[in-house]
Amino acid sequence: MRMLRVEGGRRLSGETRVSRAKNAVLPILAASLLTDGEVTVKDVPRIDDVAHMLDILRTLGCDAVWDQGDVRLSAANLRDTALPDALAKTLRSSIFLMGPLLARMRRAAVTYPGGCEIGLRPIDLHLQGLRALGVAIREEGGLILCDGSRMHGSNVHFDYPSVGATENVMLAAVLAPGDTTIYNAAREPEIADLQACVNKMGGRVRGAGTSTIEIEGVAALHGVCHRPIPDRIVAGTLLAALAITGGEGRLLETAPREMSAVLEALREMGCRVHVGRDSVALRAPERLRAFRSLQTSPHPGFPTDMQAQMLALASIAQGTSVLTENVFENRLNHVQDLRRMGADIVVSGRVAVVRGVEKLSGARVSAHDLRAGAALVLAGLCAQGETVVEHAERIDRGYERLEEQLGALGALVSKETDETV
Ligand code: EPZ
Repeated sequence: MRMLRVEGGRRLSGETRVSRAKNAVLPILAASLLTDGEVTVKDVPRIDDVAHMLDILRTLGCDAVWDQGDVRLSAANLRDTALPDALAKTLRSSIFLMGPLLARMRRAAVTYPGGCEIGLRPIDLHLQGLRALGVAIREEGGLILCDGSRMHGSNVHFDYPSVGATENVMLAAVLAPGDTTIYNAAREPEIADLQACVNKMGGRVRGAGTSTIEIEGVAALHGVCHRPIPDRIVAGTLLAALAITGGEGRLLETAPREMSAVLEALREMGCRVHVGRDSVALRAPERLRAFRSLQTSPHPGFPTDMQAQMLALASIAQGTSVLTENVFENRLNHVQDLRRMGADIVVSGRVAVVRGVEKLSGARVSAHDLRAGAALVLAGLCAQGETVVEHAERIDRGYERLEEQLGALGALVSKETDETV
């Protein structure tokens, strides 16, 4: 088990660049299956979710190699269409490999990805969307067997704007004969980045970033070189680190236009936030103010992936904050660990009520998921004494050496491994 050891009480300051977005890179890696040409993805973060995705692509017969900070892929020798059970279970988001496998090979087999620490994570919308495209799907002994031999363009209506289901259907429809329109599509910026990449491959997709996406099926796609967008959640997490320590700093190579809900929440808490074309500067107040009320919702609403970090900030803010988690049914596990550090938080269903305290105390806590883990590191940065965050391997799934990113801003965070666990 990996652990992060955090020394509290240091005010962060300085400048650092933001890595490229995990949630853009993963579907773009999946899109490499759509062509037998070479796909180069630039500036890929070295995080465990990427490593797992590359392993899955290799077991399907793809070549995938690191070249400095880039990844070069070729699916010319794609031979398998059954996602390996063990690997697919380590990476839930491998579910959106179904779309490109069906597009390229007209068949796919995947085991039901289990739920995870933040919820059941059903895939009914994925299956509904693929069936609308004429994919015959049967479930046999935990396996989902897909036959896309008669796939065709169609209209897909989502009851909920699911990010993964939107990406799955887009990647299936790009090579399906005919036109597809996705209604009530997710609007996250990572989907617009996927559209940009697919269109550079010769695809004909438009409307990503809005609720209606139109896809004109084409016969084939060619190779591409693409640099994904910056990671807006890593950026938000680093800004939260500056805010929670009363610090001041600037993030470079980021995309402030995609972060307005988070920047507004930080301003409401008393931070001065200055936005450049691709930079964000923040100066924290002596003591943060409560954000009163915050609700997570699909983009452009407040992102669920920043919810835990905001609870950490609220824990030491002046006043009472009320946060409602509307996206995932079980994403408040970090509250118990924040309480162990002295936070005054009451949870009822999906609502957390936080009465800010003057100080938190360092403690031994555990990361339930990558964002909860990041939130506990933030709490440790402002706590009295030392905090140890266990299961930091879960943080490594989505943060590229978080201890070094925070270290660049003056934090003292070290990583240790306990081989006995
Ligand atoms: C993506 O997950 C992100 N992951 C998540 O980031 C992010 O939290 C989430 O979108 C919401 O923004 C990647 O992009 C790899 P959803 P995804 O489908 O696609 C329900 C992180 O921390 N739902 O929009 O799984 C689902 O249960 C991760 O980086 C169905 O009911 O999110 C959830 O309650 C965590 N049926 C809600 O929709 C379905 O078929 C949102 O899920 C699919 C989803």
